[in-house]
Order: sequence, then structure tokens, then C-alpha cells
Amino acid sequence: MKNLIDIESLSVNDINQICTRAWEFEKGSRKANHQSASVVNMFFENSTRTKMSFQMAQSKINVKSYDFNSDVSSINKGEELYDTINNLSAIGMDVVVMRHSEDYLIDDLASRNYYQDISFINAGSGKHAHPTQALLDYYTMRKNTTDLEDRIVVIVGDVAHSRVARSNIALLKKFGVKLRVLAPPYFKGEAIEGVEYHTNLKEAFDGAGIVMALRIQKERIQREGLEYTDFADYVKNYQITKENLPPNALLMHPGPVNRNVEIKNDVIDSVYGKTILDQAKNGVFIRMAVMDLVLGNRGQ
Ligand code: CP
Repeated sequence: MKNLIDIESLSVNDINQICTRAWEFEKGSRKANHQSASVVNMFFENSTRTKMSFQMAQSKINVKSYDFNSDVSSINKGEELYDTINNLSAIGMDVVVMRHSEDYLIDDLASRNYYQDISFINAGSGKHAHPTQALLDYYTMRKNTTDLEDRIVVIVGDVAHSRVARSNIALLKKFGVKLRVLAPPYFKGEAIEGVEYHTNLKEAFDGAGIVMALRIQKERIQREGLEYTDFADYVKNYQITKENLPPNALLMHPGPVNRNVEIKNDVIDSVYGKTILDQAKNGVFIRMAVMDLVLGNRGQ
């Protein structure tokens, strides 16, 4: 694994290897020391969980970690991002961890030649891909279930704007997991083959074993000038409550949560809400595993 750009490029074996390695890091049976390696974190969109867990993971595998702040960089003097990264490679960076609002920019950057070879890890690209989120979500599901293939996973909410949904669907389809999307027409997005689409919560939640709520992406909705901005219809018909959550279902959410919008506050603050924090914790081990594999492949 030289780069991690999207889930589609990973095989089932790759995903199992990443999860096994994450488990070894979590249990303490594996240690890694990449003291000769340098990683630069380039976040052009806001982040708490992804950025901080990459940093925590970098510290745990003893990588030298650098934070690129675009606000005070020469990008503001008009430098093209390719040239910036080419210079970072000349300076000695081995890996770029990047979050960017453009869907396929990282795909393009990873396909180009650099002064010294450099690897790319996608920390979220536009509406397209968030591979480490899907990996940590799958890891969380595996840790909490022994029968994932027999469970129905329902992804609820703003699928149209969600890179998390796209990457989760791509990953879970590889494992033959039964997938439903529950969304109002204005959040449905393009239909994906192999996914059952619902607009009625009762029907979608019938027999569900895992419910994954998505964040309503207010900033993207506003940027696109779309009209449905009060979310009253969404809350009335799709908000997850103690009453409508299927019994024994695992409740997940990638974060950040819009409290009392996607999920009612008393559910977030109950035992059901704990898995959401487990997801954040598991992100550290998954990102340790991904960086360990990328750096190992580079001989570092
Ligand atoms: N889930 C996720 O990507 O969260 P952040 O935007 O805080 O990184």
C-alpha cells in the first residue's frame, strides 16, 4: 500500500490486514518505530477527530509529524498545490495526510511525479471519499458484532453530501453486508447499486442491527445555495430517538454531531451514544495501522 486514496482501491485482504494491525496496536502486541519518517498533515477543511487522531497515531508510531497551515503558507502567494507538495518532498516529507474540499484533487496529486517519492493518505476529499473513517467504522462494527454479515446496516441522513456514506457503502459492499439508506429525497443523492433506499423510517429500521446516522452538512448545503435549511421536516421524520431506534441496534455517527438534529440528545447521552466515542478512539488504531503499512512499504 503506497497510498490510501479511497476504499475502492483496497481488497478485502487489505482491509482485513489493516484491521488486524489496528487490533494488534490496540492490544499492545505490536509496536512500531518510524523515527526516520516525516509526515505532513495538510488540512484545508476543518477537522477535530481526523486531524487529532492522525496526530495521536503519528506520535504513537514515533513518526516526525508536521502541521501545514495553509493560512500562513505560500499558497496565499499563489503557489500551486502541486508545487507546494513537490517542495515538501524536496524538504524531506515522506507522507502527506490531506483533507480537501475537492472530490478528486488527491487522486490527481497522487498520480504525479515528485522530487522524491511521496505517499498520500486521504483524510477526507470533498463528497467523494473518507477511507480511514470507513475503516474505523468497519473496525468498530467488527468489535461489536460477531454476525456482521447477517445484520442489516442502515445509513441515515444527508447521504447526498456525505463522503463518509460513500466510503462506508463501498467498504461494506465488499463484505456482502446488507445495506439500506434512509433519507428524504433532498438528501438521497445518486442511487448506488446494491443499496436499498427508503424514505420511511419504520420500514428502514425494521430488523436493523446497525444504525449509522450522518451529520447534516450545513456548510455544504449553504455553499450550494440549497433551500432546506431549517431541518424541521428532517427532525420530525428522521431524527433518531429512544422510541424509534431498533432494540439492540448499534448506533453510530462519524461526528461531529448536530445535537438534537440527527439524534435526540437523550440518546446521545445514553449508553447508545458511547459507540460514537468508541469510533473516535478506534480511529487512532486504524490510522496507526494505515501509516505503519504505508511507511513499511516505503522501507521506513
Ligand atoms: N468524522 C470526521 O471526519 O470528523 P472531523 O471532521 O472532526 O475530522
